[in-house]
Amino acid sequence: MYDFDKVVDRRGTSSIKWNVQYDFGQKDGLLPFWIADTDFAAEPKILEAMKKRLDHPIIGYADPWENVFTAIQGWWERRHGWKAETDWMYISSGVVTAIYFNLQLLIPQGEKVLTFTPVYDPFFAAIKNSGHELVDCPMIHEDNYYTIDYAQFEEELKNGVRGVVFCNPHNPVGRVWSEEELKKIADLCAKYGAYLFSDEVHADYALTRPYTTMGKFEQIHDRLVVYTAISKSFNMAGMCSSCLIIPNGELKKKIVADFESRWMFGPCDLAFTAIEAAYTYGDTWMDEAAAYVAGNVEIVKKFMAERMPKVQVTKHEGTFLMWLDMNCYGLTSGGITDILAKEYGVALGDGSHYGGQAEGFMRFNIGCARETLMQGLEQLAKMYDKYAK
Ligand SMILES: Cc1ncc(COP(=O)(O)O)c(C=O)c1O
Repeated sequence: MYDFDKVVDRRGTSSIKWNVQYDFGQKDGLLPFWIADTDFAAEPKILEAMKKRLDHPIIGYADPWENVFTAIQGWWERRHGWKAETDWMYISSGVVTAIYFNLQLLIPQGEKVLTFTPVYDPFFAAIKNSGHELVDCPMIHEDNYYTIDYAQFEEELKNGVRGVVFCNPHNPVGRVWSEEELKKIADLCAKYGAYLFSDEVHADYALTRPYTTMGKFEQIHDRLVVYTAISKSFNMAGMCSSCLIIPNGELKKKIVADFESRWMFGPCDLAFTAIEAAYTYGDTWMDEAAAYVAGNVEIVKKFMAERMPKVQVTKHEGTFLMWLDMNCYGLTSGGITDILAKEYGVALGDGSHYGGQAEGFMRFNIGCARETLMQGLEQLAKMYDKYAK
C-alpha cells in the first residue's frame, strides 16, 4: 500500500502550483487546488530508475529505446484494451505543444477547428495561435451533467470544420465518454473528413465508468492522433513528455518529419526512463491513486451536500479535477478566485477560463492528501457561509 494520506511539503520546490501564493501577496499560507498536478509522491521505482540513470554522468540528446515503446504498448493493452503498435508512437515534449504543431501542419491556415466547451483552456490557444478559426461547440448541460450536442456538431462539420480537438476523460467537466458517444464522434469526423486530435492524458483517472480510447475506432484511424502521457497519471508533469499514437503510417511520417523540421528533439532520457518505469512498475500505484481520488470525490460530494448545498457539484466520472457551479455567490469566477485566495487562503481554478458559459464555475483539483482536502473544504465553507445567497 502506498501512503497517499502523507502530506508532502512542496513549498520551496519552485512548484508552479504552490508558488501561486506569491501572486496573491501571501507567503506560504495559501493552499492550492488549481493547476492540474497532484500532491502525490511519485512511485518509488520510477524515482529509483531515474536516480540510477544519473549514475552515468552525461545527459545528452537521446532517442527513446525499444522498451520505452513496449512499456507504453503493454500499459495500453493491459489496462485499456487497445493494442497500439509501437511504430505508431512518437514521444514528444508535451501535449499542448504537440496539438499546436499538429494543427499547424495538418489544417490549412484560416480553416475551422472545433472544440466542445467548456474545455481545458490551452486548446483555445493552440487553435488560435496555429492560425485557425476557433469553433466553439457548447456541450448540453443538464442536471449537472454534460453531453455532446451532436446536431450542432454535425452542423459545424457541414459548415467546414476541418479538425476537432477532443478531451477524454474531460477536463474540466469530469466526463468519461461512453463507447457509444465516442463512436458518434468518430463516425461524424470520418463522414466529414475532419481530423480528430484526442487528448487522453487523464485516461488513468477514469473513476466511475470504464474509459474507452478513441484509438478503438478504426473508421477514424486515417485522421487520428491520440495524445497520452505519464504527466497526469503518475504526477510527473515536470518531465515535459508525452506520447503521440498515430495509427496511419503516412500521417505518422508526416508528423514526425514536422517535429524534426522544427529541430524538436523531444524530452531527455530521464523522461524516457520515467516512462518505461512507470508503465512497467506502476499498476498498483495507479490503482491506489485512482481509488484515493475516487474517495476524495465522495468526501467533496458529501461535504458540499451538508455544508454548501447551493453549490452545484457536476457529476464526476473521471480526472482529479472537480467542476463546481458556484453561481449561488452572484459573483464572477474571477471575483470568487480573488476572494477565496485573499480572504480564505485557498486557490481554485477560475472556471471562466474554460469558455462556454462557465462564468461562476470553479475547477477544484482534489489530487491531494485528505488532510489538505479537508483544510481546503473548511475554508471554502467559510466563504460559502458569508457569500452564498
Ligand atoms: C487535458 C489536458 N491536456 C494537456 C495537459 C498538459 O499537457 P502538457 O503539459 O504535456 O502540455 C493538461 C494539463 O493539465 C490537461 O489537463
